[in-house]
Amino acid sequence: MQKTNSQSTELPPAFYLGQPGTVQIKAAAHSPSGLVITFMGQNKTHIYPWFWVRDHGIDANSLNPATLQRQTNSFDLSPEEMATSIDFDTNQQLIRVSWPDGPTTMISAYMLASVKGVIPGRHDLTPQKRRRYWDKDDPLNDLPSVEYDAVMDSDNGLKNWLENIWIYGFSMVENVPSTPEATISLAERIGHLHETVFGRSWPLSADLVDHGDTAYTTDYLEPHTDGTYYNEAAGLQLFNCIEFDGKGGESIQVDGFSIARRLKAEDSEAFDILSKTAVPGHYIEPGVHLRAERPVIRTGSTGNLLQVSFNNYDRAPFILSEPELKAFHRAYSLFHEHANDQDNWLKIPLTPGRTLIFDNWRNLHGRMGYVGKRRFYGCYLSMAEFESKLRVLQARQT
Ligand SMILES: [Fe+2]
Repeated sequence: MQKTNSQSTELPPAFYLGQPGTVQIKAAAHSPSGLVITFMGQNKTHIYPWFWVRDHGIDANSLNPATLQRQTNSFDLSPEEMATSIDFDTNQQLIRVSWPDGPTTMISAYMLASVKGVIPGRHDLTPQKRRRYWDKDDPLNDLPSVEYDAVMDSDNGLKNWLENIWIYGFSMVENVPSTPEATISLAERIGHLHETVFGRSWPLSADLVDHGDTAYTTDYLEPHTDGTYYNEAAGLQLFNCIEFDGKGGESIQVDGFSIARRLKAEDSEAFDILSKTAVPGHYIEPGVHLRAERPVIRTGSTGNLLQVSFNNYDRAPFILSEPELKAFHRAYSLFHEHANDQDNWLKIPLTPGRTLIFDNWRNLHGRMGYVGKRRFYGCYLSMAEFESKLRVLQARQT
C-alpha cells in the first residue's frame, strides 16, 4: 500500500458522502474481526473486515479525488489487517481508521450503508419507484408516454422518459417530427447511437432489400429480442413511424421479465434450464458472420433479472445430451408459449408522429402483418449509456 505521512483533512468526494440525513450511524466500534456498525433505526449490526475497510478508503490517499479511481494497492493488503483505533465524526458521518503503519483511512456512512443495501446506492436506478412488470394477470391500462418537446427541451422531460423505459420496459414518445434527423436527435438525448451491421441508424420498410432479414417484410413477426448474435446486444431500440398508409402492422410488446418471473414461480425447473443453458444465435449475410451465445434468461449476482434473449429465427445449431435436449425443448417451448399468448401482449398502432422505444434486454417485440406502405426510421442505443444517463439525471434532481 502507499506509505505516506500526509493526512488529508479535506472532505472526501461528494459522490461518496450521499445526501445529508439519508443515513446515520448510531454506533461504530472496533472489534478484532472488523469495524462494527449499527445504523440509526436498526438494531442489526454490520461487520466490515478491516482489510475491506482499508481497500475502500475515500480519502485522498486511497482514492483519486478527481477521477474517483482507487489508488490503494489492494494486493498489498493482508486479510489479517487490523486497525489500531477508529475516530467517528458524528457530524460529518465519517470514520477515520488508524493502522499500525501508513496513513489513516477515511470511510463514510453512505459507503458503509449502501454496500450493505441499507440505503440505495447512487448506482441504483429509480430507487424510489419499483419496476412495473405487466402481463395478462396485471395488464397496463395506459401506455407510458411522453411528449417529444418535453424530452428535447428539459432534463426533467428526459428523465421522465428514461424512467418510463426502466419501469415499464418501453415508452411512447408523441408528436415526434417524421424525419430521420428528429429520430436521431431524440435518440441522442440518451447517448451515442449503438452501431451494428444494420448501420448507425436505419430506415425500415418492406421495399428495402439491403438486408435479408424478416424485419424487412410485411409479414407477421413473432415476439423476439434483437441481437442474440451479438455479445453486446443493443439495450434499447427506437422506431419512429415516418409514414403509414395501410392496415395492420401494430407493434407487439411483451414483458419478457414477466415471463421469466412467471416461470420462476410456476416452473422453477424450466426457469433453471433457461437461465443456465447457453443458446447460440447467428446472423449471416455476405461479408458478415456474427455469432454469440447466452442463456434465454440471464440473472445477476442476487438472482435479479438482467436480460432475456429469445429469437428462434436467429438461433444457431447446437446440441445437448438427449435428456438435456428434451428438458431444454420443454422449457424453451414454455417460454415461447407465454411470449405468444396474445393476452400477454400490448398491440400498439404506430402512426406518423409516434415513436416507440423499448428495452431490448427485457421486452420482446414483434409486429402484426400489414398491407400498404409503411416506413419507419430506427436506431439502437446501448444499455450502459441508457443506465448512465438515468443515474446522472437522478443525481441532479436529488
Ligand atoms: Fe426485431
